[in-house]
Amino acid sequence: MSNNSFAQIIKSLPKEFSHYLVKTFLQNGFKGYSKLIITSLLAIWGFNAIARTHGLLSKKSVKGSHIFITGAGSGIGKLMATAFARLGAKVSLTDINLQSVEALELVLKGEGLQSKAIHCDVSDVQSVKNAAKIAREAFGDVEILINNAGIVSGKTLLENSEKMIEKTVQINTISHAYTVREFLPTMLQKNKGHIVTISSAAGTVGVCGLADYCASKFGAFGFDESLRMELRKLKSAVKTTCICPYYIDTGMFHGVKSNFLLPILKESYATRRIVNAILQEEKVVCLPAIGNLIFLVRAIFPTWLFDTICDFLGVNKTMDHFVGREKSRETVN
Ligand SMILES: NC(=O)c1ccc[n+]([C@@H]2O[C@H](COP(=O)([O-])OP(=O)(O)OC[C@H]3O[C@@H](n4cnc5c(N)ncnc54)[C@H](O)[C@@H]3O)[C@@H](O)[C@H]2O)c1
Repeated sequence: MSNNSFAQIIKSLPKEFSHYLVKTFLQNGFKGYSKLIITSLLAIWGFNAIARTHGLLSKKSVKGSHIFITGAGSGIGKLMATAFARLGAKVSLTDINLQSVEALELVLKGEGLQSKAIHCDVSDVQSVKNAAKIAREAFGDVEILINNAGIVSGKTLLENSEKMIEKTVQINTISHAYTVREFLPTMLQKNKGHIVTISSAAGTVGVCGLADYCASKFGAFGFDESLRMELRKLKSAVKTTCICPYYIDTGMFHGVKSNFLLPILKESYATRRIVNAILQEEKVVCLPAIGNLIFLVRAIFPTWLFDTICDFLGVNKTMDHFVGREKSRETVN
């Protein structure tokens, strides 16, 4: 980087912060106690991050817990449901596609595991209430809620329809309020419970061709953060986890292309990491972990540099060949 562009970056930072940087690193240097303290903190943070990513932190037991998963009929919802059932949880498998969850219920029952297939359209508050009632009758109060159901149109803003834009926000964001409002009161009463939000890397960075999806996933991310803050204010022991994965090969984003710097995640890996994140009660998880850099880059660099980095990583070309689940099904049929 040339001295000029470096100076430009420093100039665009808030004045006090750039003064602090200059004073600390140019005048005092990186030496003595400050070096020891910073290196130790970085090492602790690094070891913790590695342990977390590999699922080495202490995990809670879900044996006998009632877990309610939306969108459990396909992709990571199906895999999470299977993983939790195998860990001894009683799983309410909910989906707008009843056939898909009934098929999963049969498989899990075949393994001697506890699950119940329930129809639930998360965009319809009455459907959520009905599903919650059936789930409670089957397995009692819900201890872990996983808001996983989601859709994507994959169209640019002007190609998209108002109906699809509304549907995307309704399913990917507003529905979280319906399910949380259904189960949170009992969790608060018992001072125990866990609410999981499946957001997306597209909930932390805007992407060409995903305006409606990004809006909905930024919304889900903000919903989780506000909920976490409300629970904190109430000094409640109810936990929250927000997951922000990059593209996963479930078929939802069929046709998407990503370069070698950001490979598309395998659904088995993504599910293992998400299940561990829930068991380890992590608060916000970017998948892969390098996704955390988005927050740092946003915070310290000017927007033009942030946009340039996104272009360099090829993020804005990923959707150019998007086909999606529905279209790929049409092609197969
Ligand atoms: N696949 C990815 O690349 C990716 C990346 C980041 C985040 N995510 C998010 O992860 C979640 C799961 O994605 P996936 O890849 O497993 O997708 P998927 O398409 O395999 O599964 C989504 C499930 O949601 C269900 N669903 C759709 N509309 C519904 C509704 N109105 N009510 C109830 N269920 C409904 C579908 O029937 C399906 O079973 C989604 O929220 C998605 O946005 C996916």
